[in-house]
Amino acid sequence: STIYLKDYKVPPFLIDKTELTFDLDEATTIVTSRLHMRRNPACGKSTVPLTLDGGEGVKLIGLAMDDYTLPPEEYRISENKLIITATADQFVLTCETLIEPQNNTSLEGLYRSSSMFCTQCEAEGFRHITYYLDRPDVMSVFTTTIIADADRYPVMLSNGNEVERGKTEEGKTFVVWNDPFPKPAYLFALVAGDLAVKNDIFTTQNKRDVKLQIFTETHNIDKVDYAMEALKRSMRWDEEAYGREYDLDIFMIVAVDDFNMGAMENKGLNIFNSSCLLASPETTTDDSYLRVEAIVAHEYFHNWSGNRVTCRDWFQLSLKEGFTVFRDQTFSADMHSETVKRVEDVSFLRTAQFAEDAGPMAHPVRPASFIEISNFYTLTVYEKGAEIVRMIHTLLGAEKFRAGSDLYFERHDGQAVTCDDFVSAMEDASGVDLTQFKRWYSQAGTPVVSVTDEFDAASGTYRLTMKQETPVTPNQPTKLALHIPVRVGLLDQSGNELSATLDGTTAEDHVLHLTSSEQVFEFSGVTARPIPSLLRGFSAPVKLHYDYTPANLLLLMSSDSDGFNRWSSAQQLAVNELQALIGQAIAGETLSIDSQLIDGFKALIGDCNLDPAMVALILTLPSQAYLSELANPIYPAAIKQARHYLKTQLANALSGEFESLYTNNKSQGVYQANAEDIACRSLKNLALSYWVETDSEAAQQAVVQQFEFANNMTDQFSALSIAVHSQHEKAADMLAVFYDQWKNEPLVVNKWLMLSAGQESDDALIIVKGLMEHPAFDLKNPNKVRSVLGGFGQNMAAFHKEDGSGYRFLADQIILLNKRNPQIASRLCTPLTRWKKMQPELSEKMKSELERILAEDLSKDVYEVISKCLA
Ligand code: ARG
Ligand code: ZN
Repeated sequence: STIYLKDYKVPPFLIDKTELTFDLDEATTIVTSRLHMRRNPACGKSTVPLTLDGGEGVKLIGLAMDDYTLPPEEYRISENKLIITATADQFVLTCETLIEPQNNTSLEGLYRSSSMFCTQCEAEGFRHITYYLDRPDVMSVFTTTIIADADRYPVMLSNGNEVERGKTEEGKTFVVWNDPFPKPAYLFALVAGDLAVKNDIFTTQNKRDVKLQIFTETHNIDKVDYAMEALKRSMRWDEEAYGREYDLDIFMIVAVDDFNMGAMENKGLNIFNSSCLLASPETTTDDSYLRVEAIVAHEYFHNWSGNRVTCRDWFQLSLKEGFTVFRDQTFSADMHSETVKRVEDVSFLRTAQFAEDAGPMAHPVRPASFIEISNFYTLTVYEKGAEIVRMIHTLLGAEKFRAGSDLYFERHDGQAVTCDDFVSAMEDASGVDLTQFKRWYSQAGTPVVSVTDEFDAASGTYRLTMKQETPVTPNQPTKLALHIPVRVGLLDQSGNELSATLDGTTAEDHVLHLTSSEQVFEFSGVTARPIPSLLRGFSAPVKLHYDYTPANLLLLMSSDSDGFNRWSSAQQLAVNELQALIGQAIAGETLSIDSQLIDGFKALIGDCNLDPAMVALILTLPSQAYLSELANPIYPAAIKQARHYLKTQLANALSGEFESLYTNNKSQGVYQANAEDIACRSLKNLALSYWVETDSEAAQQAVVQQFEFANNMTDQFSALSIAVHSQHEKAADMLAVFYDQWKNEPLVVNKWLMLSAGQESDDALIIVKGLMEHPAFDLKNPNKVRSVLGGFGQNMAAFHKEDGSGYRFLADQIILLNKRNPQIASRLCTPLTRWKKMQPELSEKMKSELERILAEDLSKDVYEVISKCLA
């Protein structure tokens, strides 16, 4: 049941108006729909039957066409499709379904979370509510009536504006909502519950007042102020940066506890995983504050990039997601530090998206086929998709990019379109030819760019030779050359920027257009042998190879005018060191390091001109996950040993520096989630994580002190994590105290679950099994499942235990969740999908667990991942 992009056909029917009535009840919910349908004129004269999408759990209890009740012989239901053979050219279809939201564990469609009803319809959840043309190119004006007992469900929300309210004959309350903007069913939303609200107002650039409302369960309403401020900043920013003004008179956000993903951009009624919305200094870390701001912005920005202009089909998902991620990244960069944000995003991309691109699920940003679309809400579609948009921004320049965006929104407002339409608008507004560039959408895999250079002192010419190669990926044996923008600068031996001439342009910074498999770029007017600063700002999502000496890397790290490359050079230096150590560990040799990295770190700590956030990022060693991505095969134990050894060596060599960094960045004031304070906390806590690796008694005490006296979650949780990961003698006590202190705050408990599951101990698996029996655990709640099993997946020693017990345990959980919540089960497979890259003994054990899963009766979601893994 694979679906192919090449098979796309326009819908044979359209739905001009959709009228829905929900009679909500604890036992059964009745949904009545009246669909004002007609044959699609684009299909000419056609007699194809009407085929509506439905889903498991939807029971059809009534069906009529223009008030004529259809007898069973005039329709049939097969494989969740409702097929009506004889239809007029225009008609009203009335359809009544019975659903049981309280038994919906997949969290797709209408379900219960805590005491409320809520929905998640993207991508294909609406069909779990009623029969419909559940595809994004069928856009309709929705009117929704919600009927419920007002005592239990005083708040009843749907998209658009509330237009009517009253009492039914049985004494229930009804509320009618109308959304004037035509939309696909995936943007439909409904919420009903006993919720508290925070109100605010945003005045648009054209002086229209928009009512803003955030709804939560009563006990959480004190944690939405930050999200509300973030929302107003997002609304203003979209006006200024993209000229996009909000369109309805009301914008609502609801927080729910049980949610498969982060959040959802339903028109006028965003629904959020509470972990991505709620924030307070005592319960929320800095990382989570930034995440809340970014996701509030992301969902808000979808109102234009996603809702006003939507996707023609799900292969085009990156049309809205890649663009919207790019928009939220730029927003966060504007709110805080551009370089810090870029480093964080690239680090994430290189660790997780590159791993996806190198694995069995590798797919293009616009996939050519899928079995289950839910499996394609991926880092490739989102993050690599955002990199594609960023490259277009680089190729066009800021002004023409904005013109392209304006044209795109103007030309396609109210339409469901493709990635090609997006690129065409960019081309038409700028005159830049993106024909070759578009291969980025259809070609999977991470390109490798290899660079060599030559300098001719006599003529003052400097030549860069670049080669590109994209590795083979599943179903894509041959690869074409991509159009890769490579931003380059040149430094002299003392670290000064050199000006050079390329193709008649003299500058300190050039964008090279690498378009062939091999190409030479010749700079003239170069007065001394330069050190190239390559791929500045990470101008393309590629792996770049150039044979830097350690001295080159140290120079770039201390002097490059491009902040991103200062970080990147330091990472490269650390990667080189770590790879040497990993080799030694695999060979069973005694580990030893060179002193360059120590010298570099020492100089960096002494350089007081740097933003503390950048110092913290540069001092952060490459993660085990990133080292795994770079390795082939992966030896988890060696990676862990190498990284720990290097950290300890650095800690001992620079213990005085780390101690003073810790002391000097200890802030006393009131907690604020601003860039400056976040930077100081991150540097302080990073310094503590090094310092504690020395034998210093003072460091051990500092951890406990900070844990006990912190006035904010960032500091308290950092201290706790440091204690756990450094195997502090008080770690177990601190974990117990922490749980006791926060047991009534589910979001904090999630953090505790994750940290507990990540403890490196011989009993790790027993601990994890215990956590799943703990009263704080709940298999129905995706956040809890992610915390425990996600934490366990990062627990290198326990997950990759030689006897395969870690893999067996995860496979058991996947099988357990497969039917209950296919989306979550499918996500849990990720660590096992890396099996081919693991050291042979482990690889075999992973493979047999994958085979064991495949033998089960699987959901489409899990089946697709596991079968592609073993193909
Ligand atoms: N469109 C949402 C976002 O990125 C993601 C929702 C995806 N949900 C899902 N179940 N696949 O903001
Ligand atoms: Zn999105």
